Amino acid sequence: MTVVEDAALAITAAGTDDGLLADAELFRGAPDDDVEAVYDLAADRYDHFRELWLHLAGAGAEKAMLADLRDVLRPGAKVLDAGCGTGVLARTMLELEPDIELTMIDLSAAMLAKAGDVPGEHLQGSVLELPFPDGAFDVVVSSWVIETVPDPMGAVTEYLRVLDPDGHVFYTFCSLPHGWFSQTGSAWLRNTVGRDFAGTFLDDESTPWHDCGRSHLHRFSHGLTTEVALQKCCSVGARVLPGAGWPSQPPDGRPGSAA
Ligand SMILES: C[S@@+](CC[C@H](N)C(=O)[O-])C[C@H]1O[C@@H](n2cnc3c(N)ncnc32)[C@H](O)[C@@H]1O
Repeated sequence: MTVVEDAALAITAAGTDDGLLADAELFRGAPDDDVEAVYDLAADRYDHFRELWLHLAGAGAEKAMLADLRDVLRPGAKVLDAGCGTGVLARTMLELEPDIELTMIDLSAAMLAKAGDVPGEHLQGSVLELPFPDGAFDVVVSSWVIETVPDPMGAVTEYLRVLDPDGHVFYTFCSLPHGWFSQTGSAWLRNTVGRDFAGTFLDDESTPWHDCGRSHLHRFSHGLTTEVALQKCCSVGARVLPGAGWPSQPPDGRPGSAA
C-alpha cells in the first residue's frame, strides 16, 4: 500500500468516526507552541488517539521498540520513561518484566495523572533538563515525544547523559518521509498530527542519530515513523541517515537491516 492510500484510509477512518472528529475539537484552544497546555487538554482522550495513531502509522515502530525492550529488560533494571504520557508504554514494560524500577517523567500534569496507577516514581518535568544524575538508568525509553519538544537533539543528549555505561536508549518518533510523492501523500496526516498534538515530522537534519555498530535506526509506514536504539558510546547530531529514499519496513515489525 502506498503512503497515499494510507492517508486516504486515515481520512476515511476520521470521517466515519463521529466521536473522533468531535474529540479533535476538544484539543483546540491551546496555543500550538504551549505543549504542556496541549497535552493537559488532550489527556482525557489521549489513549483513544494513541490507538488510532498506531493503527494508521505507528504500530511498526512501536512493535520494534517493544522487541528491543524485551531483549534488555531485566529484573531490577532502572528504567526511565521520558515523556511517559498516560503510561501506556510503562504498563506494557511492566507486563514484559514486572521487577523493573520504573521512573516516569512528563511535562503535563494531566497526562501524568493518568499514569498515576502505574507503580514507580512519577515526576512532572522536562526531558530537556532531566533531574537525574549522570548514568542513573539502565534503560531510557521515549515513545512519540522528541517530535513535540523544541530541541530533539537536546532531549536525546539528556537521555544519553542519564544512561548507565552499559545501558540502552530507545525512542520512536514521527518522521518526514523521503521524496515528493510520499510527502504529498502524507500531508493530511502530518498536518492533523501537527495541529492537534504539537508534533512535527522530523526531517533528516533534525533527527538525533549516531551511526555505529551499537546503534540502529529503522523506518516504518513509508518513512512516517522511525525507531532508534542507541548506547552510551553514541553522541547525537545530524547525520546521513540509513536507507535514505527507500525506508525499511520489515513485515513482522522486527527490524532487519535499514542500511
Ligand atoms: C504524543 S505524547 C506520548 C506519550 C507517551 N510516551 C506515549 O507513548 O503514549 C507526547 C508526550 O510528551 C510530553 N512532553 C512534551 N514535551 C515534553 C518535555 N519537554 N518534557 C517532558 N514531557 C514532554 C507530553 O506532555 C506528552 O505526554
